[in-house]
Amino acid sequence: MQYDVILPAAGSGKRMGAGKNKLFLELANKPILIHTLEVFEKDEACRAIFLAVKSSERSFIQSQLQKYNITKVNEMPIGGDERQHSVLACLKVMDTGDIVLVHDAARPFIEQSTIHALIRKASEKGAAIAGVRAKDTMKRVSNGRIEETVERSSLWMIQTPQAFDFELLKEAELSAEAEGFLGTDESMLVERLDKEVYVVESNYENVKITTKEDLIFGEAILNRRAGGK
Ligand code: CTP
Ligand code: MG
Repeated sequence: MQYDVILPAAGSGKRMGAGKNKLFLELANKPILIHTLEVFEKDEACRAIFLAVKSSERSFIQSQLQKYNITKVNEMPIGGDERQHSVLACLKVMDTGDIVLVHDAARPFIEQSTIHALIRKASEKGAAIAGVRAKDTMKRVSNGRIEETVERSSLWMIQTPQAFDFELLKEAELSAEAEGFLGTDESMLVERLDKEVYVVESNYENVKITTKEDLIFGEAILNRRAGGK
């Protein structure tokens, strides 16, 4: 089953504090953005990549694509101030009617097996997102005081990729835009339409590189993988 992928890459990486888009920072001598792009470049089921970028970074990214021989980037629309708007910018230049995957460019460690499980589930059910089970004890807190301990077994920490029937995601994004609703992931927009979304169990390595500590974790993952483990 073929799919297209939307990669929002138009953030500024404020929490990383690197003074530039964190996606240009290197792990194992390669930009984070390229690590993520390579996953999809190598995946035969991936037909095309839609990359949302900042206008000021567009030509630099173009040169990086050439340098690292990334050939599947179809379009590079200019992203918006919010991640949701960057995803929408990609959807607006797409015309496919199949499965579309949305994946943070800042999650370079996603595994092909998870992607394919998501595609299978989304083609069967319409919507499927990656997540992992919560590990810690979870409590609801208000003004520093515990209100309740929340039953952990039903709690999942949600990641990307998130896979959808193309028309469903487009409808959800356009309806959110029309009503000025801003969600923190694509699933929220689909949930608003009262559609079912399924979760596919991913793994704890699929982190979003957000702060400096994540770079240490990332180097460790790449070292281990380079050792064939
Ligand atoms: N992103 C985007 N457009 C935005 C904001 C974010 O395309 N307006 C992208 C980022 O480039 C990243 C992904 O969405 O690949 C997840 O966002 P996040 O990890 O929050 O990255 P930043 O927004 O860049 O970081 P920060 O929130 O710390 O500024
Ligand atoms: Mg952000």
